[in-house]
Amino acid sequence: MIKKKDIKWSELGFSYVKTDKRYVSYFKDGKWDDGQLVEDNRLTISEGSTSLHYGQQCFEGLKAYSNKDGGIQLFRPDQNALRMQRSCDRLLMPKVPVEKFVDACKKVVLANEAWVPPYGSGATLYLRPFLIGVGDNVGVRPASEYIFCIFCTPVGPYFKGGMAPVNFVTTDFDRAAPIGTGKDKVGGNYAASLLAHKQAVDAGFADSIYLDPKTHTKIDEVGAANFFGITKDNRFITPISSSILPSITKYSLLHVAKEYLGMEASEEEVKIDELDKFAEAGACGTAAVISPIGGIQHKGNMHTFYSQTEVGPITRKLYDTLMGIQLGDVKAPEGWIVKVK
Ligand code: PLP
Ligand code: COI
Repeated sequence: MIKKKDIKWSELGFSYVKTDKRYVSYFKDGKWDDGQLVEDNRLTISEGSTSLHYGQQCFEGLKAYSNKDGGIQLFRPDQNALRMQRSCDRLLMPKVPVEKFVDACKKVVLANEAWVPPYGSGATLYLRPFLIGVGDNVGVRPASEYIFCIFCTPVGPYFKGGMAPVNFVTTDFDRAAPIGTGKDKVGGNYAASLLAHKQAVDAGFADSIYLDPKTHTKIDEVGAANFFGITKDNRFITPISSSILPSITKYSLLHVAKEYLGMEASEEEVKIDELDKFAEAGACGTAAVISPIGGIQHKGNMHTFYSQTEVGPITRKLYDTLMGIQLGDVKAPEGWIVKVK
């Protein structure tokens, strides 16, 4: 039995903690090497690397969960691998095979077992796979060499308060263009979001809400999470848009709402001036898990949902079912869980 690190797990926020081992694999001469676990958390790359100048990089985020019985499992890592492949297609980077991606995730979790938060602690182990273009270069072109890494860090809630409702504010900025890279998990989208995020936080909000970049009339995303709302007639609705990240949590919740809670669930356009139809609203994502939205401020007007202090009953059921699946307490749909140990 591995001795866990002496950490106050329940006090963790979403910040970097250096763990023992990370996975690194190099792509050279048209092929990936076998990859290995290393201790050094620094990378040495050429000053001409395309990832540094032209944003030729992409990343993923997924979590490992401790079970009640001491096992450890990953949630839908194949979906992260496939999304990273789509990001690679968009930025002309070599794809990491799904099996290599999932295998590397397992290796990183096992090598850092002492850092996997215990069952019931409220914390989880966040894995950050990323792929960068490297090598000597100066022109705007794809790199000829790449590095694929995965590090992990134990985390608590992304939005302060976890399951306590938080408020958001719409921004006039766009994080991505209508047919740009919004549906891919590439660093440029996040660089473009930093200012809107700062403005929202400075004004006392948890994050900014992005509207669709073409018309600015529909909800796209909630910072680094997708939006969902529960209508007053009990339907689960989450935005459809060409510029949002196809959230694995969102697709999982669509399934949970339909198959576990017996609700109608669909992707639809969500007009910012039609928030009245929702009884409850939330942000969802790997880091965010489910964060209830207390209210959304748009053009100076605050629209409030279920409560500023309490989680709505449907949001609570979605959270309990999804977390139950992720922790191994509720039977998962076929293929959603990958056991590490
Ligand atoms: N939207 C953005 C912009 C994100 O960065 C994330 C996080 O990955 C999400 C949504 C949620 O996606 P997922 O549920 O796959 O983590
Ligand atoms: C995630 O939920 O995995 C994210 O990537 C969100 C953020 C920390 C970028």
